[in-house]
Amino acid sequence: MRAHLEHDFERFKRELPRDFAAHVREAYRIDLSARYLGETLPHPVGKGSGQLSLNAGQLEDDATAGLAFAVLKTVIAEDDTGTQTMAAWAIHETKMTVERRPAADGRVGWTVTWKGRGWDKTLDEYLALVQGGRDLTRAGRLLVVPSVKYHLPRLGEPFRDAEYRHTTGRLAAAWGDAPLLVEKDFSPTLAGDALAQDRAQILRWLAEVPARIRAASPIPVRIAVKVMNARFDARFQRAMLDAAQGADTLVVFNRLFDAERAVAYGGWELSDRNLAVLDQYADHGVSGAGHSPSLVGTGNVCSGRMVLEYARRGCESVALHTFFQLPLSYYPATHGSRTQRALHALVFAPGDGLIAGMLELETEGRLARRDGELHFLDLVAHAYHPS
Ligand SMILES: Cc1cc2nc3c(=O)[nH]c(=O)nc-3n(C[C@H](O)[C@H](O)[C@H](O)COP(=O)(O)O)c2cc1C
Repeated sequence: MRAHLEHDFERFKRELPRDFAAHVREAYRIDLSARYLGETLPHPVGKGSGQLSLNAGQLEDDATAGLAFAVLKTVIAEDDTGTQTMAAWAIHETKMTVERRPAADGRVGWTVTWKGRGWDKTLDEYLALVQGGRDLTRAGRLLVVPSVKYHLPRLGEPFRDAEYRHTTGRLAAAWGDAPLLVEKDFSPTLAGDALAQDRAQILRWLAEVPARIRAASPIPVRIAVKVMNARFDARFQRAMLDAAQGADTLVVFNRLFDAERAVAYGGWELSDRNLAVLDQYADHGVSGAGHSPSLVGTGNVCSGRMVLEYARRGCESVALHTFFQLPLSYYPATHGSRTQRALHALVFAPGDGLIAGMLELETEGRLARRDGELHFLDLVAHAYHPS
Protein backbone atom coordinates (compact mmCIF):
# COMPACT_ATOMS: atom_id res chain seq x y z
CA MET A 1 0.00 0.00 0.00
CA ARG A 2 2.77 2.45 0.95
CA ALA A 3 4.68 1.72 -2.24
CA HIS A 4 1.50 2.08 -4.25
CA LEU A 5 0.81 5.44 -2.61
CA GLU A 6 4.32 6.72 -3.34
CA HIS A 7 3.88 5.64 -6.95
CA ASP A 8 0.45 7.31 -7.34
CA PHE A 9 1.72 10.47 -5.67
CA GLU A 10 4.57 10.70 -8.16
CA ARG A 11 2.62 9.90 -11.31
CA PHE A 12 -0.37 12.13 -10.43
CA LYS A 13 1.97 15.14 -10.08
CA ARG A 14 1.59 15.51 -13.84
CA GLU A 15 -2.13 14.82 -14.03
CA LEU A 16 -4.71 13.99 -11.40
CA PRO A 17 -7.44 11.67 -12.72
CA ARG A 18 -10.78 13.48 -12.47
CA ASP A 19 -12.46 10.51 -10.83
CA PHE A 20 -9.65 9.99 -8.36
CA ALA A 21 -12.18 8.89 -5.70
CA ALA A 22 -13.06 5.82 -7.82
CA HIS A 23 -9.35 5.09 -8.19
CA VAL A 24 -8.84 5.34 -4.41
CA ARG A 25 -11.70 2.93 -3.84
CA GLU A 26 -10.38 0.40 -6.29
CA ALA A 27 -6.68 0.63 -5.49
CA TYR A 28 -6.80 1.12 -1.71
CA ARG A 29 -10.30 -0.13 -0.86
CA ILE A 30 -10.97 3.24 0.73
CA ASP A 31 -14.41 4.81 0.30
CA LEU A 32 -14.00 8.59 0.51
CA SER A 33 -17.76 9.33 0.18
CA ALA A 34 -18.76 12.39 2.19
CA ARG A 35 -21.76 14.70 2.58
CA TYR A 36 -22.73 18.37 2.36
CA LEU A 37 -26.25 19.40 3.39
CA GLY A 38 -27.50 15.83 2.99
CA GLU A 39 -26.09 15.46 -0.55
CA THR A 40 -23.64 12.62 -1.11
CA LEU A 41 -20.20 13.66 -2.37
CA PRO A 42 -17.47 11.49 -3.92
CA HIS A 43 -14.95 12.81 -1.37
CA PRO A 44 -14.89 15.40 1.43
CA VAL A 45 -12.99 18.34 -0.14
CA GLY A 46 -14.97 21.39 -1.27
CA LYS A 47 -14.44 25.10 -1.70
CA GLY A 48 -15.68 27.61 0.86
CA SER A 49 -17.51 30.74 -0.24
CA GLY A 50 -15.23 33.58 -1.36
CA GLN A 51 -13.15 35.08 -4.14
CA LEU A 52 -12.51 31.68 -5.71
CA SER A 53 -16.17 31.03 -6.62
CA LEU A 54 -17.11 34.30 -8.28
CA ASN A 55 -17.44 33.33 -11.93
CA ALA A 56 -18.34 30.54 -14.34
CA GLY A 57 -14.69 29.95 -15.33
CA GLN A 58 -13.69 29.13 -11.75
CA LEU A 59 -16.61 26.69 -11.42
CA GLU A 60 -15.74 24.99 -14.70
CA ASP A 61 -12.11 24.53 -13.60
CA ASP A 62 -13.27 23.10 -10.28
CA ALA A 63 -15.67 20.67 -11.97
CA THR A 64 -12.86 19.56 -14.30
CA ALA A 65 -10.52 19.08 -11.34
CA GLY A 66 -13.02 16.83 -9.57
CA LEU A 67 -13.71 19.09 -6.58
CA ALA A 68 -16.62 17.78 -4.48
CA PHE A 69 -18.57 21.04 -4.00
CA ALA A 70 -18.23 24.81 -4.31
CA VAL A 71 -20.09 27.42 -2.29
CA LEU A 72 -20.57 30.62 -4.29
CA LYS A 73 -19.42 34.01 -3.06
CA THR A 74 -21.85 35.47 -0.48
CA VAL A 75 -24.53 37.71 -1.99
CA ILE A 76 -26.12 40.44 0.13
CA ALA A 77 -29.91 40.01 0.44
CA GLU A 78 -32.23 42.70 -0.93
CA ASP A 79 -35.96 43.38 -1.14
CA ASP A 80 -37.93 43.93 -4.36
CA THR A 81 -36.91 47.60 -4.49
CA GLY A 82 -33.22 46.64 -4.34
CA THR A 83 -32.80 47.87 -0.74
CA GLN A 84 -30.05 46.03 1.15
CA THR A 85 -30.01 46.60 4.91
CA MET A 86 -26.60 44.87 4.98
CA ALA A 87 -25.30 47.03 2.10
CA ALA A 88 -22.14 47.78 4.07
CA TRP A 89 -21.05 44.24 3.16
CA ALA A 90 -21.45 44.70 -0.61
CA ILE A 91 -18.18 46.57 -1.11
CA HIS A 92 -15.77 46.27 -3.99
CA GLU A 93 -12.18 45.21 -3.34
CA THR A 94 -9.96 43.10 -5.54
CA LYS A 95 -6.54 42.98 -3.91
CA MET A 96 -5.76 39.83 -1.93
CA THR A 97 -2.42 39.00 -0.33
CA VAL A 98 -1.42 35.46 0.59
CA GLU A 99 0.76 35.72 3.71
CA ARG A 100 2.43 33.48 6.27
CA ARG A 101 0.77 33.76 9.66
CA PRO A 102 2.68 32.48 12.69
CA ALA A 103 0.75 31.14 15.68
CA ALA A 104 1.83 32.02 19.24
CA ASP A 105 3.67 28.67 19.55
CA GLY A 106 5.76 29.29 16.42
CA ARG A 107 3.93 27.09 13.89
CA VAL A 108 3.65 29.04 10.68
CA GLY A 109 0.48 28.77 8.64
CA TRP A 110 -1.07 30.65 5.74
CA THR A 111 -3.64 33.39 5.65
CA VAL A 112 -5.22 35.51 2.92
CA THR A 113 -5.47 39.19 3.74
CA TRP A 114 -8.28 40.99 2.00
CA LYS A 115 -10.36 44.04 2.87
CA GLY A 116 -13.43 43.17 0.80
CA ARG A 117 -16.70 41.65 1.93
CA GLY A 118 -19.66 40.26 -0.10
CA TRP A 119 -20.74 40.06 -3.78
CA ASP A 120 -20.45 43.56 -5.23
CA LYS A 121 -22.41 43.12 -8.49
CA THR A 122 -26.16 42.92 -9.05
CA LEU A 123 -28.50 40.18 -7.85
CA ASP A 124 -29.29 39.37 -11.50
CA GLU A 125 -25.62 38.74 -12.19
CA TYR A 126 -25.50 36.48 -9.14
CA LEU A 127 -28.54 34.53 -10.35
CA ALA A 128 -26.84 33.92 -13.71
CA LEU A 129 -23.93 32.38 -11.79
CA VAL A 130 -26.37 30.30 -9.72
CA GLN A 131 -27.91 28.95 -12.95
CA GLY A 132 -24.51 27.99 -14.27
CA GLY A 133 -23.90 26.21 -10.97
CA ARG A 134 -27.25 24.47 -11.17
CA ASP A 135 -26.32 23.08 -14.60
CA LEU A 136 -23.04 21.68 -13.26
CA THR A 137 -24.91 20.20 -10.29
CA ARG A 138 -27.53 18.53 -12.51
CA ALA A 139 -24.82 17.16 -14.78
CA GLY A 140 -23.29 15.51 -11.68
CA ARG A 141 -20.01 17.40 -12.22
CA LEU A 142 -19.89 19.67 -9.16
CA LEU A 143 -22.35 20.44 -6.35
CA VAL A 144 -22.73 24.24 -6.34
CA VAL A 145 -24.46 26.10 -3.51
CA PRO A 146 -25.34 29.81 -3.20
CA SER A 147 -24.45 31.76 -0.05
CA VAL A 148 -26.39 34.72 1.34
CA LYS A 149 -25.92 37.33 4.00
CA TYR A 150 -29.46 38.18 5.12
CA HIS A 151 -30.56 41.08 7.29
CA LEU A 152 -29.61 40.78 10.97
CA PRO A 153 -31.51 43.12 13.28
CA ARG A 154 -30.58 44.58 16.63
CA LEU A 155 -32.31 43.04 19.64
CA GLY A 156 -35.85 44.29 19.83
CA GLU A 157 -35.97 45.17 16.13
CA PRO A 158 -37.83 42.96 13.65
CA PHE A 159 -36.19 40.99 10.83
CA ARG A 160 -36.70 42.53 7.37
CA ASP A 161 -38.68 39.61 6.01
CA ALA A 162 -39.09 41.38 2.65
CA GLU A 163 -35.35 40.93 2.04
CA TYR A 164 -35.52 37.25 3.06
CA ARG A 165 -38.56 36.66 0.80
CA HIS A 166 -37.31 38.46 -2.28
CA THR A 167 -33.78 37.04 -2.29
CA THR A 168 -34.76 33.47 -1.40
CA GLY A 169 -37.63 33.54 -3.92
CA ARG A 170 -35.31 34.65 -6.73
CA LEU A 171 -32.70 32.04 -5.79
CA ALA A 172 -35.39 29.33 -5.76
CA ALA A 173 -36.65 30.44 -9.20
CA ALA A 174 -33.11 30.42 -10.59
CA TRP A 175 -32.42 26.98 -9.11
CA GLY A 176 -35.68 25.37 -10.23
CA ASP A 177 -36.02 21.96 -8.62
CA ALA A 178 -36.54 21.46 -4.91
CA PRO A 179 -34.80 21.34 -2.60
CA LEU A 180 -32.99 24.66 -2.70
CA LEU A 181 -29.66 24.41 -0.87
CA VAL A 182 -28.43 27.64 0.67
CA GLU A 183 -25.61 28.67 2.99
CA LYS A 184 -26.15 31.61 5.34
CA ASP A 185 -22.97 33.46 6.16
CA PHE A 186 -22.15 35.01 9.54
CA SER A 187 -18.82 36.52 8.57
CA PRO A 188 -15.70 37.48 10.52
CA THR A 189 -16.17 41.13 9.57
CA LEU A 190 -19.59 40.85 11.16
CA ALA A 191 -17.87 39.53 14.30
CA GLY A 192 -15.78 42.69 14.26
CA ASP A 193 -18.80 44.95 13.77
CA ALA A 194 -20.63 46.88 16.47
CA LEU A 195 -23.70 44.76 15.63
CA ALA A 196 -22.02 41.68 17.09
CA GLN A 197 -20.95 43.02 20.48
CA ASP A 198 -24.05 41.73 22.20
CA ARG A 199 -24.19 38.01 22.95
CA ALA A 200 -27.96 37.81 23.26
CA GLN A 201 -28.30 39.48 19.89
CA ILE A 202 -26.02 36.92 18.20
CA LEU A 203 -27.82 33.99 19.82
CA ARG A 204 -31.15 35.35 18.65
CA TRP A 205 -29.87 35.54 15.05
CA LEU A 206 -28.65 31.95 15.14
CA ALA A 207 -31.89 30.73 16.67
CA GLU A 208 -34.24 32.61 14.36
CA VAL A 209 -32.54 32.92 10.97
CA PRO A 210 -33.08 29.30 9.78
CA ALA A 211 -36.84 29.59 10.39
CA ARG A 212 -36.91 32.97 8.59
CA ILE A 213 -35.26 31.44 5.52
CA ARG A 214 -37.60 28.43 5.57
CA ALA A 215 -40.63 30.71 5.81
CA ALA A 216 -39.29 32.86 2.96
CA SER A 217 -38.65 30.04 0.50
CA PRO A 218 -41.38 29.11 -1.98
CA ILE A 219 -39.90 25.59 -2.28
CA PRO A 220 -38.44 23.20 0.33
CA VAL A 221 -35.02 24.44 1.40
CA ARG A 222 -32.02 22.96 3.22
CA ILE A 223 -30.00 25.49 5.16
CA ALA A 224 -26.34 25.48 6.13
CA VAL A 225 -25.47 28.15 8.67
CA LYS A 226 -21.82 29.19 8.51
CA VAL A 227 -21.04 30.19 12.07
CA MET A 228 -18.59 32.99 12.71
CA ASN A 229 -15.86 33.02 15.31
CA ALA A 230 -17.37 35.62 17.63
CA ARG A 231 -15.02 37.74 19.70
CA PHE A 232 -15.96 35.92 22.91
CA ASP A 233 -14.65 32.74 24.56
CA ALA A 234 -14.94 29.10 23.49
CA ARG A 235 -17.92 28.59 25.80
CA PHE A 236 -19.86 31.20 23.86
CA GLN A 237 -18.78 29.56 20.61
CA ARG A 238 -20.35 26.36 21.92
CA ALA A 239 -23.52 28.27 22.92
CA MET A 240 -23.75 29.50 19.32
CA LEU A 241 -23.88 25.90 18.10
CA ASP A 242 -26.64 25.10 20.57
CA ALA A 243 -28.60 28.15 19.41
CA ALA A 244 -28.34 27.24 15.72
CA GLN A 245 -29.97 23.81 15.99
CA GLY A 246 -32.71 24.83 13.54
CA ALA A 247 -30.22 24.64 10.66
CA ASP A 248 -29.74 21.44 8.65
CA THR A 249 -25.96 21.84 8.63
CA LEU A 250 -23.49 24.01 10.53
CA VAL A 251 -20.26 25.12 8.84
CA VAL A 252 -17.73 25.53 11.62
CA PHE A 253 -16.20 28.13 11.96
CA ASN A 254 -15.41 31.13 9.74
CA ARG A 255 -12.16 33.03 10.19
CA LEU A 256 -10.93 34.98 13.22
CA PHE A 257 -11.00 38.76 13.29
CA ASP A 258 -7.87 40.81 13.93
CA ALA A 259 -9.29 44.01 15.43
CA GLU A 260 -5.96 45.85 15.28
CA ARG A 261 -5.52 45.38 11.52
CA ALA A 262 -9.30 45.22 10.93
CA VAL A 263 -8.93 42.07 8.83
CA ALA A 264 -10.07 38.46 9.04
CA TYR A 265 -7.35 35.81 9.31
CA GLY A 266 -6.74 32.07 9.39
CA GLY A 267 -3.82 29.73 10.01
CA TRP A 268 -3.13 27.50 13.01
CA GLU A 269 -4.85 29.74 15.54
CA LEU A 270 -8.06 29.26 13.57
CA SER A 271 -7.92 25.46 13.34
CA ASP A 272 -6.77 25.15 16.99
CA ARG A 273 -9.76 27.12 18.15
CA ASN A 274 -12.24 25.41 15.85
CA LEU A 275 -11.10 21.92 16.81
CA ALA A 276 -11.12 22.75 20.52
CA VAL A 277 -14.72 23.94 20.36
CA LEU A 278 -15.71 20.88 18.32
CA ASP A 279 -14.05 18.66 20.94
CA GLN A 280 -16.35 20.07 23.60
CA TYR A 281 -19.35 19.74 21.33
CA ALA A 282 -18.48 16.11 20.53
CA ASP A 283 -17.85 15.24 24.19
CA HIS A 284 -21.01 16.69 25.60
CA GLY A 285 -23.38 16.45 22.68
CA VAL A 286 -26.00 19.03 22.12
CA SER A 287 -27.87 20.60 24.99
CA GLY A 288 -31.49 19.62 24.46
CA ALA A 289 -32.97 16.64 22.70
CA GLY A 290 -33.70 15.83 19.11
CA HIS A 291 -31.97 15.71 15.80
CA SER A 292 -28.87 17.88 15.54
CA PRO A 293 -27.48 19.48 12.38
CA SER A 294 -24.69 17.78 10.47
CA LEU A 295 -21.30 19.53 10.49
CA VAL A 296 -18.94 20.80 7.77
CA GLY A 297 -15.46 21.92 8.83
CA THR A 298 -13.67 25.06 7.65
CA GLY A 299 -10.40 26.67 8.72
CA ASN A 300 -6.75 25.95 7.95
CA VAL A 301 -7.34 22.69 6.10
CA CYS A 302 -3.95 22.42 4.38
CA SER A 303 -3.43 18.64 4.56
CA GLY A 304 -5.39 15.39 4.47
CA ARG A 305 -4.57 14.96 8.13
CA MET A 306 -6.40 18.17 8.93
CA VAL A 307 -9.42 16.89 6.97
CA LEU A 308 -9.34 13.88 9.33
CA GLU A 309 -9.05 16.09 12.42
CA TYR A 310 -12.32 17.79 11.46
CA ALA A 311 -13.94 14.45 10.48
CA ARG A 312 -13.09 12.85 13.81
CA ARG A 313 -14.98 15.70 15.45
CA GLY A 314 -18.07 15.10 13.38
CA CYS A 315 -17.52 17.00 10.09
CA GLU A 316 -18.92 15.21 7.03
CA SER A 317 -16.85 17.34 4.62
CA VAL A 318 -14.57 20.40 4.63
CA ALA A 319 -14.71 23.80 2.89
CA LEU A 320 -11.32 25.29 2.01
CA HIS A 321 -10.26 28.67 0.69
CA THR A 322 -6.66 29.48 1.58
CA PHE A 323 -5.14 26.16 0.44
CA PHE A 324 -6.44 26.83 -3.07
CA GLN A 325 -4.49 30.10 -3.18
CA LEU A 326 -0.93 29.17 -2.26
CA PRO A 327 2.06 30.04 -4.43
CA LEU A 328 2.36 27.36 -7.14
CA SER A 329 5.80 26.31 -5.91
CA TYR A 330 4.23 25.16 -2.64
CA TYR A 331 2.24 22.32 -4.23
CA PRO A 332 4.10 19.09 -4.99
CA ALA A 333 2.24 18.68 -8.33
CA THR A 334 3.98 20.15 -11.36
CA HIS A 335 0.97 20.46 -13.68
CA GLY A 336 -2.72 21.31 -13.48
CA SER A 337 -4.95 23.99 -11.99
CA ARG A 338 -4.50 25.08 -8.36
CA THR A 339 -7.57 23.04 -7.44
CA GLN A 340 -6.05 19.90 -9.01
CA ARG A 341 -2.70 20.49 -7.34
CA ALA A 342 -4.36 21.05 -3.98
CA LEU A 343 -6.49 17.89 -4.29
CA HIS A 344 -3.40 15.91 -5.29
CA ALA A 345 -1.56 16.96 -2.12
CA LEU A 346 -4.58 16.57 0.17
CA VAL A 347 -5.40 13.06 -0.99
CA PHE A 348 -2.16 11.43 -2.14
CA ALA A 349 0.68 12.97 -0.06
CA PRO A 350 2.44 9.91 1.38
CA GLY A 351 3.17 11.71 4.67
CA ASP A 352 0.10 13.72 5.56
CA GLY A 353 -2.50 12.97 2.88
CA LEU A 354 -5.97 11.55 3.38
CA ILE A 355 -5.09 8.03 2.24
CA ALA A 356 -1.96 7.88 4.42
CA GLY A 357 -3.93 9.21 7.40
CA MET A 358 -6.77 6.70 7.02
CA LEU A 359 -4.37 3.77 6.65
CA GLU A 360 -2.60 4.96 9.80
CA LEU A 361 -5.88 5.13 11.72
CA GLU A 362 -6.53 1.55 10.62
CA THR A 363 -3.09 0.43 11.85
CA GLU A 364 -3.78 2.12 15.20
CA GLY A 365 -7.08 0.22 15.46
CA ARG A 366 -9.14 3.44 15.35
CA LEU A 367 -10.82 2.76 12.02
CA ALA A 368 -11.94 -0.69 10.91
CA ARG A 369 -12.79 -2.07 7.49
CA ARG A 370 -16.39 -3.01 6.73
CA ASP A 371 -16.85 -5.42 3.85
CA GLY A 372 -13.15 -5.00 3.16
CA GLU A 373 -13.26 -1.20 2.88
CA LEU A 374 -12.35 1.78 5.05
CA HIS A 375 -15.08 4.43 4.96
CA PHE A 376 -14.39 8.13 5.52
CA LEU A 377 -17.88 8.66 6.94
CA ASP A 378 -17.28 5.97 9.60
CA LEU A 379 -14.93 8.47 11.25
CA VAL A 380 -17.80 10.93 11.45
CA ALA A 381 -20.27 8.33 12.72
CA HIS A 382 -17.92 7.51 15.60
CA ALA A 383 -17.14 11.13 16.38
CA TYR A 384 -19.47 11.25 19.31
CA HIS A 385 -17.88 8.17 20.87
CA PRO A 386 -14.15 8.82 20.60
CA SER A 387 -12.09 5.75 21.50
C1 LIG B 1 -10.47 36.30 0.54
C2 LIG B 1 -11.53 35.52 1.26
C3 LIG B 1 -12.88 35.84 1.04
C4 LIG B 1 -13.89 35.13 1.71
N1 LIG B 1 -15.19 35.44 1.48
C5 LIG B 1 -16.18 34.73 2.09
C6 LIG B 1 -17.54 35.00 1.83
O1 LIG B 1 -17.91 35.88 1.04
N2 LIG B 1 -18.49 34.26 2.48
C7 LIG B 1 -18.15 33.25 3.35
O2 LIG B 1 -19.04 32.59 3.91
N3 LIG B 1 -16.86 32.98 3.62
C8 LIG B 1 -15.87 33.69 3.02
N4 LIG B 1 -14.55 33.37 3.27
C9 LIG B 1 -14.23 32.30 4.24
C10 LIG B 1 -13.83 31.00 3.57
O3 LIG B 1 -14.89 30.43 2.83
C11 LIG B 1 -13.35 29.94 4.61
O4 LIG B 1 -14.44 29.49 5.37
C12 LIG B 1 -12.29 30.50 5.55
O5 LIG B 1 -11.33 31.25 4.85
C13 LIG B 1 -11.59 29.39 6.33
O6 LIG B 1 -10.99 28.45 5.47
P1 LIG B 1 -9.42 28.53 5.05
O7 LIG B 1 -8.62 28.55 6.30
O8 LIG B 1 -9.25 27.28 4.22
O9 LIG B 1 -9.24 29.77 4.23
C14 LIG B 1 -13.54 34.08 2.61
C15 LIG B 1 -12.19 33.78 2.83
C16 LIG B 1 -11.19 34.48 2.16
C17 LIG B 1 -9.76 34.12 2.43
